[in-house]
Amino acid sequence: MSLYAIGDLHLHFQTLVKAAGQLRDPAWRDHEAVFRRNCKRMIRPEDTLVLAGDHSWGRNLTEAGQDLEWIAALPGRKILLRGNHDMFWDAKKTASLNTLYARKLFFLQNNYAAYGDIALVGTKGYTFEGPFYVRGRRIVDWDREEERHAEKLVEREAERLEASFAAARADGFSRFIMFLHYPPTSILERNSVFTAMAEKYGAEQVIYAHCHGESRFRDSLEGRHHGILYRLVSGDYLRWMPEKIL
Ligand SMILES: [Fe+2]
Ligand SMILES: [Fe+2]
Repeated sequence: MSLYAIGDLHLHFQTLVKAAGQLRDPAWRDHEAVFRRNCKRMIRPEDTLVLAGDHSWGRNLTEAGQDLEWIAALPGRKILLRGNHDMFWDAKKTASLNTLYARKLFFLQNNYAAYGDIALVGTKGYTFEGPFYVRGRRIVDWDREEERHAEKLVEREAERLEASFAAARADGFSRFIMFLHYPPTSILERNSVFTAMAEKYGAEQVIYAHCHGESRFRDSLEGRHHGILYRLVSGDYLRWMPEKIL
């Protein structure tokens, strides 16, 4: 039994691609076929694959339907995290998505998934991404209004993450792997409410995605930080090879 993770499939079987980078960058050429081939080679039926958000360009469940069925047809148990582009996933309707896709997909938010004696917990997360005003290579200012908005989103996501940890702990779990869509820290931080929560609950690893293209791959923590292993698993970073987490 193995645990794998990858993020940002950005599927578009029923919609148009809305990111220029996805159209231009060679890393995205035929990425669905490359990824499916890798999954079929690596992932066995008893394995678990966590998809760390940004699954579909579909704006609603109708437009995302084929993308979700395509994911459901991949080998192994599939656990999905909410990404910033997942418009089909109303944050208040996670339970109804879990009913709708029962036995096919599990939607991780305000809940957890058991992997042996480990609880897989997570939420979308959020990080302040600017706009920053740069002089030379130094950040000299940023948009205060955006920063205040970001603080509210971080607070709400931290509550959801705490609910996920609390649900797992209430069921007797003491080992955790934590998943976020957004990086745990902004480019200005080394610590955040998310890293603090990972430390408080003793998460063994923090897995995140969202960062696309060479210039963004080092936006946040990678490797050991305060005893916790941080790993970026965005699809283009991994070249569509699911990362073995355990
Ligand atoms: Fe993405
Ligand atoms: Fe994203």
